[in-house]
Amino acid sequence: MCGIVGYLGPQEPKNIIIDGLKKLEYRGYDSAGIAVIHDGKTKRVRAEGKLKNLEDKIVSEHFNGHLGIGHTRWATHGAPVERNAHPHQVGEISIVHNGIIENYLEIKEELLKKGAEIKSDTDSELVAHLIWEDIQKTHNLLQSVKNTLNKIVGAFSILVMWEKSPNELIAFKDGPPLIVGIGEKEFFVVSDVQAAIKHTKKFVYLNDREIVHINNGSVQFLSQKGDVLKKEIVTVDWSADQVEKMGYKHFMLKEIYEQPRAVAQAIAPYIDTDTHSVLMKNIGYDTAEMYKKIDRVFFIACGTSYYAAMVGKYLIEQIAKIPVETDIASEFRYRKPILPENTLVITISQSGETADTLAAIRLAKEHGAKTLSITNVAHSTIDREAMGHMYMNTGVEVGVASTKAFTSTLSLLNILAVQIAKARGGISPVSEKEIVKALLAVPSQMETVLSYDKYFNEAASKLGEFKGFLYLGRGVSFPIALEGALKLKELAYMHAEGYAAGEMKHGPLALIDEKMAIVVVAPSDDLIDKTISNLQEAKARGGKIISIGTGENAALKSMSEFYLSLPAALWTTNPLVAVVPLQLMSYHLADHLGYDVDQPRNLAKSVTVE
Ligand code: F6R
Repeated sequence: MCGIVGYLGPQEPKNIIIDGLKKLEYRGYDSAGIAVIHDGKTKRVRAEGKLKNLEDKIVSEHFNGHLGIGHTRWATHGAPVERNAHPHQVGEISIVHNGIIENYLEIKEELLKKGAEIKSDTDSELVAHLIWEDIQKTHNLLQSVKNTLNKIVGAFSILVMWEKSPNELIAFKDGPPLIVGIGEKEFFVVSDVQAAIKHTKKFVYLNDREIVHINNGSVQFLSQKGDVLKKEIVTVDWSADQVEKMGYKHFMLKEIYEQPRAVAQAIAPYIDTDTHSVLMKNIGYDTAEMYKKIDRVFFIACGTSYYAAMVGKYLIEQIAKIPVETDIASEFRYRKPILPENTLVITISQSGETADTLAAIRLAKEHGAKTLSITNVAHSTIDREAMGHMYMNTGVEVGVASTKAFTSTLSLLNILAVQIAKARGGISPVSEKEIVKALLAVPSQMETVLSYDKYFNEAASKLGEFKGFLYLGRGVSFPIALEGALKLKELAYMHAEGYAAGEMKHGPLALIDEKMAIVVVAPSDDLIDKTISNLQEAKARGGKIISIGTGENAALKSMSEFYLSLPAALWTTNPLVAVVPLQLMSYHLADHLGYDVDQPRNLAKSVTVE
């Protein structure tokens, strides 16, 4: 899950690499490093902790030369200390690595037998040893990379440079993403286009077991056997502004505030605003034909994307009336799922790179299921592997905690449910119109909720005194409760559990006392009375209630310490507006507590390892 930047071109690499790493810090932030071929020798600087520590260390350092590699790390093998930071250098070879070398123990044993001096606890350094050992025989970097690729097993993307060859940069991958940016006589090799978008809009996405050979001003893409590959150059139309904070204190806050626009952008391609109908767009296959044939849907995702999938289950089952299962990707891939014929497997992934979700879509394909991916990052690995494609279309999401990707996905799931229902003749034009109108109203409803931010901030300032949190909801609000609890855990490092409100009496009631906060998502829908009864039970046992309801709900308000009001929405769109106060409360609490909101401890945005 680390971030990689390589540069070869006419400019000095230091600032380009550091700038690129800043855009990738969301991928890992426990140490960072840079190496440049400087006056014919490798000049390498590494620092423990955030990228800022590396920047401070090299602020007055001069790096000559035109070739360099940099890395921001999320530790897998070895503690986050400088000795384990990348780049790793062995002899004249330097590498940066993202991923895991699974056969590292064998390799290490072999190397130790041969007397290699291993300086770090990482699996990555071993790759540098293998290349250095090999190049002393071949004197050819490309050949040594190919030979090394035959010896390593795992999930990796690696950049290599050789002190003796300052116009040559090689990259190869099997797993985590690696993308080549092609500029004017300059090349960038990065984990994410964000790291190079300032310099070029032309990118080539590598597939597994492909090698990039940049040498003397030209680039070649090769298979592991050495065959030259013809690769498509993709133009990415993201602007560099999208990866700036634009005056907000944190990316997360900016992204929360971008949600009205993000939702409008996500639904725009699928809606006819004159007739208030949903369009059956061809999204990689003939949508109507395919939706007619399917008799079951599986949603697969991780984390916040999984909670979006849970909302999708309620929507599709109730609107399109076909059975839906949801699975956490890491469970799905190993539980030997049964995928009957005519199953549609839908993966949801903001990054499009989550390792477990990717494995799940591959498994679904092996079983012959139809696949559809909902991603934010076009051309990401999951997007490339799926048969059908829907895009969140929110622009870059930088904050590690997902916000706008979640709500954009919820809006797409409304669309998808109507599309499936429509293809099967199962929805009346009146119901379709009602859902479309509700979706079109979401951006302004979200604006209203955002305008109450000072109340959420005030509520958040009181949350720090609780010892624990139960987030409750019923129906589509249950996944929103789970999402609220996740946001609080990951940002404010406080223990929170999401529960279906009706489950309280089956155990969690025992937890309740006056130090337990109960955050309830209770918009006025069919289930509101039942939710209020569950709250009475919790209140009777001393629990303090923070409730989120529709308009002025007197019953809810009277039993709550804090009552946060939402505009009235349809049951299908309630989750989109109800999640906003939860995002903002967690954000403000974490900020009050002085935590790094954009980069919570131990986390990384794109989880490209199992
Ligand atoms: C939480 C969060 C994570 C991601 C999860 C899946 O705020 O962001 O739980 O939702 O890691 O990531 P994607 O959607 O990129 O597959």
